[in-house]
Amino acid sequence: MQNYDIETLAVRAGITRSQFNEHSEALYLTSSFVFRNAAEAAARFQGNEPGNIYSRFTNPTVTAFQERLAALEGAEACVATASGMAAILATAMALLKAGDHIVSSSGVFGATVQLFSGILSKFGIDTAYVDRTDPDAWSTAMRPNTRFLYLETPSNPLTEVSDIGALSRLAKGAGALLVVDNCFCTPALQRPLEMGADLVIHSATKYLDGQGRVLGGAVLGRRELVMDGVYGFLRTAGPSLSPFNAWVLLKGLETLRIRMEAQSQSALELARWLEGHPRIQRVYYPGLPSHPQHALAARQQRSGGAIVSFDVKGGREAAWRVIDSTRMVSITANLGDTKTTITHPATTTHGRISAEARARAGITESLVRVAVGLESFRDIRADLERGLGS
Ligand SMILES: Cc1ncc(COP(=O)(O)O)c(C=O)c1O
Repeated sequence: MQNYDIETLAVRAGITRSQFNEHSEALYLTSSFVFRNAAEAAARFQGNEPGNIYSRFTNPTVTAFQERLAALEGAEACVATASGMAAILATAMALLKAGDHIVSSSGVFGATVQLFSGILSKFGIDTAYVDRTDPDAWSTAMRPNTRFLYLETPSNPLTEVSDIGALSRLAKGAGALLVVDNCFCTPALQRPLEMGADLVIHSATKYLDGQGRVLGGAVLGRRELVMDGVYGFLRTAGPSLSPFNAWVLLKGLETLRIRMEAQSQSALELARWLEGHPRIQRVYYPGLPSHPQHALAARQQRSGGAIVSFDVKGGREAAWRVIDSTRMVSITANLGDTKTTITHPATTTHGRISAEARARAGITESLVRVAVGLESFRDIRADLERGLGS
């Protein structure tokens, strides 16, 4: 389906019909598959014959989701995982070894920092954190054993944008891999592999589902990295995506583009309104001309995305007041839902990392993150305005 547009791929890629010729994608809720005889079982296990074996590593619904997402990202291969964190873990376990080194943007999700610094460090893999937007900081932090350059762009929650092309050249020159968490933009707005990234990571829990229903994750890239590497780890260690979740995600992908466009449009309107509000100190949104990497975002992304973060004048108290005054917007740590969500990153998503790491990431007590959903912009603004009153 290479020549179809992304909207078409989102609803048509990855379909294999069963003998019943169903129109909607089938859900194969089964843990194992039956072989005609012992010879067929042996051939499948030895990899001499294609076909499903056991849903830890082969399931037609999961395969359909993988193929559809690979088509959207323009990837050779995709492996689905139980969650976004499972995708990052599987990538690291498959492609790194003791003695390897990661250079990561300091603006990555809190649990990713925990995984790198609290867990991978126990297995002899060190991580250095750098200012995500300064290419010189990345090259200074690199060592001969650096194997991953790791980043989110835009970052969570400050929406900082990194130059994927420049970092990919840096990685290639050093024999390292550029790994990009594309959670905030999704392939509807940004395709990192086309810009030189080696691997794309997804928390499918976010926009790929887009309706706050299931957890899931994915790793995408060249066949040798994804299939020989990450898939091998998944088959053995088992942080696999359930077929049910894969089916939900397949249906989520169908509306990805229109959701991302509508939610980005409301986010832009929200960012503009907040920027002019006297109680707001600073707004972080790549679609605003005042954003430090606005020009880069305009080159890399189709729009600014649906996340708007802002510092409220008056520290934690003022930030919590905005959050607690909402009646419609959901106070929840998740993002990427049709329902608008609001979070205080310093005490929730980034609460478990050290105060030093938080400061390094620029996450203040006055920071609020809003993930804009599909409600009307007027209603979202009215709900946020209540806590910003005098
Ligand atoms: C940017 C980013 N990457 C990865 C994750 C982890 O994904 P999951 O919660 O599906 O494990 C999250 C979760 O919030 C995230 O925001």
